[in-house]
Amino acid sequence: MDIQLRSSRVVIIGTGAVGATTAYTLFLRERASEIVLIDANKEKALGEALDMNHGLPFTGGVKLWAGDYSDCAGADIIVIAAGASQRPGETRIDLLKRNASIFDTIIKNIVQYNTQGIILVATNPVDILSYVSLKQSGFPANRVIGSGTLLDSARFRYLIGQSKGINPRSIHAHIVGEHGDSELPLWSLANVAGIGLEISEEEKVDIFNNTKNAAYEIINAKGSTSYAIGLALDRIITSILLDEGSVLNVSTLLTDYNGVSDVYLGVPSIVDRSGVRQVLDLELSDQELQQFQSSANKLKAAIAELDL
Ligand code: LAC
Repeated sequence: MDIQLRSSRVVIIGTGAVGATTAYTLFLRERASEIVLIDANKEKALGEALDMNHGLPFTGGVKLWAGDYSDCAGADIIVIAAGASQRPGETRIDLLKRNASIFDTIIKNIVQYNTQGIILVATNPVDILSYVSLKQSGFPANRVIGSGTLLDSARFRYLIGQSKGINPRSIHAHIVGEHGDSELPLWSLANVAGIGLEISEEEKVDIFNNTKNAAYEIINAKGSTSYAIGLALDRIITSILLDEGSVLNVSTLLTDYNGVSDVYLGVPSIVDRSGVRQVLDLELSDQELQQFQSSANKLKAAIAELDL
């Protein structure tokens, strides 16, 4: 019986800090059999590919190359990490006009070669640009996913773990809503192995503020973020390619969800080979519900100003 080894292809559009780090993370962990780098600056994509391929004798058997949009044909996942990133003091929403303008071309180029893959958006403002990608691609919503608040939730879990002296992998806690300034913590659901957390109100304020403002702090210190978002994208890609069905706080289209419809927000979602298979219902307190709907309204107002 000959075993059919399923090949898999991940295309990464944009080889800046996030795109290149994501590619390297996938490359090191051999997540896909093929990784293709695309960048408007072809030299940059080529340089990143050469630099990674020279490490192949130390790693394993991933085929990685700098390509063009024709390589999207047959790709399982197409990551969009292209566009401007935050400068010190800039919010993610400040990037909207600049980045929305390039998405039109990117999506048109993708769908020219691929209508069956999954689009995974990392470019900020990621929730709005995921919605833009949905509208411009014509793909079903389950196959257009944003990195959402998966990274924020990881930061949240890390900071809670630091305060309690517990490994963040044993901390379960959600940041939901916008991947940005209107995100909100679900303290009511935070737990360690199903056991509630004892955290003072003062500590909760500190932990959430440090979670929400983490990117600003890192950008001020080193110019951009890349490692943790690269690992978050790797986590989503793995759940898709291995058909895991893991629950991840990705950005997905909401319909009549806690009074919210027709917007992308980060919420706990089951992610498998189909993309987002299901969004999990959340029991929100009155205050959490108000903040969640406020986050949704902020993004819907920004979307309304786009010519979609
Ligand atoms: C951050 C970027 C990915 O939060 O928005 O690091």
